[in-house]
Amino acid sequence: MSENNSLERQEEYTEMLRDILPLRYDTDSPRAFVHTYGCQQNVADSERIKGMLEKMGCTLTEEKEEADIILFNTCAVREHAEDRVFGNVGALKALKRKKPSLLIALCGCMMEQEHIADKIYKSFPYVGLVFGTHVIHRFPELVYNAVTTGRRLVERGTDDGKIYEGLPIHRDGSFKGWLPVMYGCDNFCTYCIVPHVRGRERSREPGIILEEAENMISSGYKEITLLGQNVNSYGKGLSEKTSFPELLKSVSEIEGDFWISFMTSHPKDASKELIDVIAESPKISPHLHLPFQSGSDRILKLMNRHYDVERYMEIVEYAKKRIKDLALTSDVIVGFPGETEEDFQCTLDLIRRVEFTSLFTFIYSPREGTPAAKMHDPYTHGDKAARMGELLKLQESISAKRTAAMVGQKYRVLIEEQAREGILNSRTHGGIVVEVQGEPELIGRFMTAEVTEARNFILRGRIIG
Ligand code: SAH
Ligand code: SF4
Ligand code: F3S
Repeated sequence: MSENNSLERQEEYTEMLRDILPLRYDTDSPRAFVHTYGCQQNVADSERIKGMLEKMGCTLTEEKEEADIILFNTCAVREHAEDRVFGNVGALKALKRKKPSLLIALCGCMMEQEHIADKIYKSFPYVGLVFGTHVIHRFPELVYNAVTTGRRLVERGTDDGKIYEGLPIHRDGSFKGWLPVMYGCDNFCTYCIVPHVRGRERSREPGIILEEAENMISSGYKEITLLGQNVNSYGKGLSEKTSFPELLKSVSEIEGDFWISFMTSHPKDASKELIDVIAESPKISPHLHLPFQSGSDRILKLMNRHYDVERYMEIVEYAKKRIKDLALTSDVIVGFPGETEEDFQCTLDLIRRVEFTSLFTFIYSPREGTPAAKMHDPYTHGDKAARMGELLKLQESISAKRTAAMVGQKYRVLIEEQAREGILNSRTHGGIVVEVQGEPELIGRFMTAEVTEARNFILRGRIIG
């Protein structure tokens, strides 16, 4: 069956569900609750799932208690993420008892792991539908089968290397939006489950991406974030060869007043060309999220990261030189198997040298099926937690210095949300939050703010135009 055929077939299931679901739930518009765990890639998938639910005639709700369909889109990146899902699925038992017609569905990265899908099936008999990341486009068919047969369904397709374009989208935000440019990952860092649950890297055609970006901008989006696990390797297998810097530049040339960001950049592929494009376009955020993971060359090798500290510093120095007001953020793992005190000190050294704007910090979590999970590790969780404490203290002192240096400066900011009565959170082009006084009517608008105060890492400012 061709891709178009298979999507047409899904539309037929959607049509049938528009008749079936109201009868099953005795309401014109059944309620669907969707909760998303994990990264923006999952958020973007959930926006497509929500789009499909709306096409089936459902109304989205924020209240689990009133829902007829509950769906959790799960993340497998660390054990903690998985434990939260297990706990929250356990808590649904009472709802299912109260409303036997309730359809509980689980999807996403966790479900692509056989042992997890098995565990869910065995431990949670009230879960009616389990499906993986490779079959999201078949969601209408899966719902149809689950409700018409009344049987429990587990569907974990194989990675067919295809991208299914044209799915409906219900975007969560009205002025900030996600735009996936590629799916999957080919890097196989030894600690990471993502390539195992998301399949091989594949890029969307530039024409389709540009069209989606244009639509978003003309419908009022002010910030678009281009998404991929490693955007710098964008372009593999495209009919017309395009690099990520070229794509970024084309998006930035669309007419209108908007900002573009992107994530994530892998240091092994981050090029000077990329930095130049950021430096030269006022619409591209001067923000680079460049995960370094470890400051020890020995550990980087064991992680299969394909760069060393010298190469990392080279790109950082170039970016600092070229990009005005650069915000540099990163991910770091503490306690990779066998990481010694000396390796850890190298990580602290790198943090001191770079002075990141902010850091996302993780204690290593073994993932079944990855090479690192089999590596010998003499260190306890307590050792790792103590190191994490030390790292956080260092980053705090760096962040305090950075926020203090922003006082007195003026920035263009996007007003994002109400923090509390009379106070709004705004964000600079580099992604730094500044609290300003103002009313909610300003949300979604660009303003100029002067930073007046930095306290406990919170920047306060006032709108000056
Ligand atoms: N593709 C992105 C990251 C995706 S996962 C990249 O390569 O940068 C987000 C972050 O989770 C990673 O950067 C890493 O720091 C962390 N991470 C991934 N697997 C982990 C594990 N097993 N234990 C702890 N942290 C992990
Ligand atoms: Fe995981 Fe590495 Fe791929 Fe990032 S690049 S998703 S850390 S395997
Ligand atoms: Fe988690 Fe899957 Fe993203 S494992 S981090 S939701 S790609």
